[in-house]
Order: sequence, then C-alpha cells, then structure tokens
Amino acid sequence: MTRLNVIHAAVIGLTATFLLLAFDRGGALHRDQHVYVPPAPKVAAAPPVVDPDKGKPPPHNDTVEDLPEGKNRDLTFYTCTACHGVALIKAQGLTRDLWDSTIDLMLEKHRMPPIKAEERTEILDYLAETFPPRRKGRGSDNPFLK
Ligand code: HEC
Repeated sequence: MTRLNVIHAAVIGLTATFLLLAFDRGGALHRDQHVYVPPAPKVAAAPPVVDPDKGKPPPHNDTVEDLPEGKNRDLTFYTCTACHGVALIKAQGLTRDLWDSTIDLMLEKHRMPPIKAEERTEILDYLAETFPPRRKGRGSDNPFLK
C-alpha cells in the first residue's frame, strides 16, 4: 500500500510538472528561453534595370525626301541620319557657325564617324542654306503681314 502511494505520488507529481510546462504558453516557467524568430527570407536583389537604348534617339524611317530639296541634300541625309531622324535637324535654324559646332557636337559627344573636310563643307553648305536662323520670329512667313 505504502509503495503504491509513493508511486502514485511520483506519477501524479511528474504528470503535473509535465502538464504545467507543456501548457505554459506564456513562458513564465521558461523565462530565459529564446523566442524563435524565423530569419526574414532572403529576397534576391533584382538586377538593376539597364535600358540599352537609354539616351539613344528613337528609330526612324525617314527618307531623303524628308529633307527639303537642295544641293548636297543626299550627302547630308546619309551622313546625318544614321543615328536620328531628320526631325532633330529640321527643328533647328542656325547660322553656319552654329551648324559647324553642331557637327563638332555630333563628332565629339555622339561619336559620329569622322567625315572628310570637303564633305563637311558640303553638308554645312546645305544646312546653312536650308535651315538658317529664324530670326524674324513668329509669323515672318505670313504673307498677310507683309
Ligand atoms: C553617331 C550618331 C549621330 C550622327 C551620325 C549624327 N548625330 Fe545628331 N545627334 C545624335 C544624338 C545621339 C543626338 C541627341 C539626340 C537626343 O537628344 O535625343 C543628336 C542630336 C542632334 C541635334 C539636336 C541637337 C539639340 O540640341 O537638340 C541636331 C540638330 C543634330 N543632331 C544634327 C546632326 C547633323 C546635322 C548631323 C550630320 C552632320 C548629325 N546630327 C549626325 C547623334 C548623331
């Protein structure tokens, strides 16, 4: 009898301890236990988006006829539209000197392939003749204002 009681007491005691620990969800009996925080999943950094066409003028389907008639038009067209359309050129009205600087800009900044001196002169002739400065301002080609 006495032995049975001791065994009972031991079993009850162990069970009670086990249950206490098992249901100790608040952690009062496990004070120093670490709370497991799963590490944040590593998200592979997206590769930087590199647009290969960045800074490049848009493609165009311009033809020689898109430039106004004039001497050396073809040479100008084929030299100047490898990278951009005629719109960029037509948008400008410049003195011969400024057209000359524009060609320098194309050569130096935009890495236009070098051209022969006489071709450069011919292109300049065409550009200066066809797209001179529009210095009279708005309405200067309005016949009713003459
Ligand atoms: C190797 C490529 C290349 C060639 C060839 C080239 N250009 Fe350009 N050009 C460019 C680029 C690039 C720009 C800048 C376009 C932009 O800003 O969208 C530009 C811009 C221009 C502009 C606009 C400049 C401005 O300030 O808005 C003019 C005008 C121009 N080019 C004229 C010419 C002329 C005239 C020729 C021929 C003599 C020529 N380009 C040949 C690459 C070229």
